[in-house]
Amino acid sequence: MTTASPPPDRYAVVGFPVAHSWSPFIHGMFAQNTGQHITYRLMEVPPQRFVAEVSAFFRAGGRGLNVTVPHKQAAAQLAKFRTARAEIAGAVNTLSDESGELLGDNTDGAGLIADLQGNLQIKLADARILLLGAGGAARGVIGPLLGCAPEVLLIANRDSSRAAQLAHEFSSLGNVRSGSFETVGKEKDPQPYDLILNATSASLQNTVPPISSKCIGDSTICYDMAYGHGSTPFTRWALEKGAARAHTGWGMLLEQAAESFYLWRGIRPETKPVMAAILAAPKRSA
Ligand code: ATR
Repeated sequence: MTTASPPPDRYAVVGFPVAHSWSPFIHGMFAQNTGQHITYRLMEVPPQRFVAEVSAFFRAGGRGLNVTVPHKQAAAQLAKFRTARAEIAGAVNTLSDESGELLGDNTDGAGLIADLQGNLQIKLADARILLLGAGGAARGVIGPLLGCAPEVLLIANRDSSRAAQLAHEFSSLGNVRSGSFETVGKEKDPQPYDLILNATSASLQNTVPPISSKCIGDSTICYDMAYGHGSTPFTRWALEKGAARAHTGWGMLLEQAAESFYLWRGIRPETKPVMAAILAAPKRSA
């Protein structure tokens, strides 16, 4: 007598739009490389149907969801419990079914730190860090960055009042300040930053935040949390202005996915083979 193998555990990424997402490819490779019996699909859900469709997914036995734009705040509200890092970020990118209740976590910040410190060997302790942007992407990484004890984290944004608000909110976690694109790097005696992180959505509009090139010195490392095939407008600009290195956000994408996979499956997948497969994949928009 043969016994039927159990059905695979079901996972998905929910977003709007979501067709561009690499998550099914990434989690598919993680599952294959770790021998996990799962499926992972795309769920395109507009904001007004988010609660109903996510609830239905878990009622029908779904095990976990990654959550992307524009649903991360809605996911934080829907989760019955949130991890401390999701609470600090005010956003959830990973939902899991924990004995019938929804647990919300946020692996974006951990993914960024793993890429910066682990893959790229960038020292964050005592570093002077400039964070561009004050939207959801910036908010999600401020707590984890301050957790690495930089000398200073300066948040600059097109609308400087949003940067000031974020700096105020996170002030108990470390030395965090705020500024505007017009003022940063234009102080009397400007010091270049060790690390400049672009968390704005400017790259998606093919532009670069208009900051002074004085922010960049010959040992400055620049990092665009956006990713595409090859460089981004920000990484090209950074190298033109003399940065030591410029990286796109592929590593962060992979590391946050690995952290979600670990939460769900208890196994930490290798990200290097997946990065190699992505870089070898035919060109498509990210
Ligand atoms: P996300 O969740 O991706 O962070 P968001 O919350 O809409 O999206 O935030 C987008 C961020 O990119 C904001 O910091 C925004 O600046 P404002 O707060 O001033 O709107 C920034 N941004 C968007 N387009 C930009 C551009 N062309 N140049 C510079 N900053 C830009």
